[in-house]
Amino acid sequence: MSPATTLPSERFKIEPAKEATSPEERAKRMENLGFGKVFTDHMVVIPYTVATGWGQGVLKPYGPIVLDPAASVLHYGQAIFEGFKAYWQPDGSIKTFRPEANANRFNASARRLAMAELPVELFVEAADTLIRHERAWVPKAVGESLYLRPFMIGTEPALGVHASTDYLFILIASPSGAYFPQGVKPVTVWISENYVRAAPGGTGAAKCAGNYAASLIAQTEAKAEGCDQVVWLDAVHRRFIEEMGGMNIFFVYQENGEKVVVTPELTGTLLPGITRLTLLELAKNLGYRTEERKISLDEWDAALKEGRMTEAFACGTAAVITPIGLVKSNHGEWPVNKGETGPVAAQLRQALLDLQHGLAPDPNHWLHTVC
Ligand code: PLP
Ligand code: COI
Repeated sequence: MSPATTLPSERFKIEPAKEATSPEERAKRMENLGFGKVFTDHMVVIPYTVATGWGQGVLKPYGPIVLDPAASVLHYGQAIFEGFKAYWQPDGSIKTFRPEANANRFNASARRLAMAELPVELFVEAADTLIRHERAWVPKAVGESLYLRPFMIGTEPALGVHASTDYLFILIASPSGAYFPQGVKPVTVWISENYVRAAPGGTGAAKCAGNYAASLIAQTEAKAEGCDQVVWLDAVHRRFIEEMGGMNIFFVYQENGEKVVVTPELTGTLLPGITRLTLLELAKNLGYRTEERKISLDEWDAALKEGRMTEAFACGTAAVITPIGLVKSNHGEWPVNKGETGPVAAQLRQALLDLQHGLAPDPNHWLHTVC
């Protein structure tokens, strides 16, 4: 039987929790969902050793993991992760959105961090297995979903600096709503000039834990400036807009009577977002011209002042589409679209949510049926 058709129960040992959360308690925990605070009853774990490859996957009760204090992740930071979502569909089925794309990016991150790669079908099957067991935790409201967080850490107990020989892949799931506490209202962003996120040759295109650890001081600075998020500039010229804390960024221009949807080009220092790729396609389908190119801070400022830029917004799996209402930096602040959600951001957000929640056709077969 090919891996794609192997039943999950054969691939994964199922060790269910003795006592699952009661329906009443679950309903209580799923009220007013924010992001990543509630976790389901189970997780999937797959061990790897260089000698024998990927071992038996197990679905087991969600809970603490035991690590040797010398485990390489704790010292040298071999840790990567992904994020994608499962959506309740009008016909009662549950589907994930482009899970293979996340699996491929997971492996690209693994290669950059000299970690073991996980076969794409195993990544997808791990998620399908967990979601099937946690069906009841998938929220039904549009804008809510079951957020899947696969991650992998180096576990070899050894203090010599080298790629770990042992890894643990773990998948947890979290019913989630809006990423930002204020919901989908426009955010205020802080242009980080004191810190950079990624430099050429570094790990910017990988989804590794260290990138986020290194970003936190800038995020703290942004908070102190009254902002919700950091906008990163390129490390070499300190001029070109790259992305945000956990999101890619888009701009809407008004040019010769038409709206143009623009996003920074992938230079190797940005995370190649799956939402970014999806929106480029959706925007084209909605009749907008799209561009991937460099956008400088000066251009952003001038285009806003001259009225050539009408909107800016951030996008990502967790944040979906979040409009930017105000840009702040050491040199002043510029409102975007009078601090309001713009029509293109609203239209793209609707198109994306409709697609993910099965309310619009899926001509590219981006939805993967789980159960
Ligand atoms: N950029 C960064 C730094 C991120 O952490 C994320 C989130 O995953 C994104 C962009 C958006 O990527 P995606 O749309 O695949 O979630
Ligand atoms: C996501 O959008 O899935 C992310 O990983 C962003 C952030 C929560 C780190």
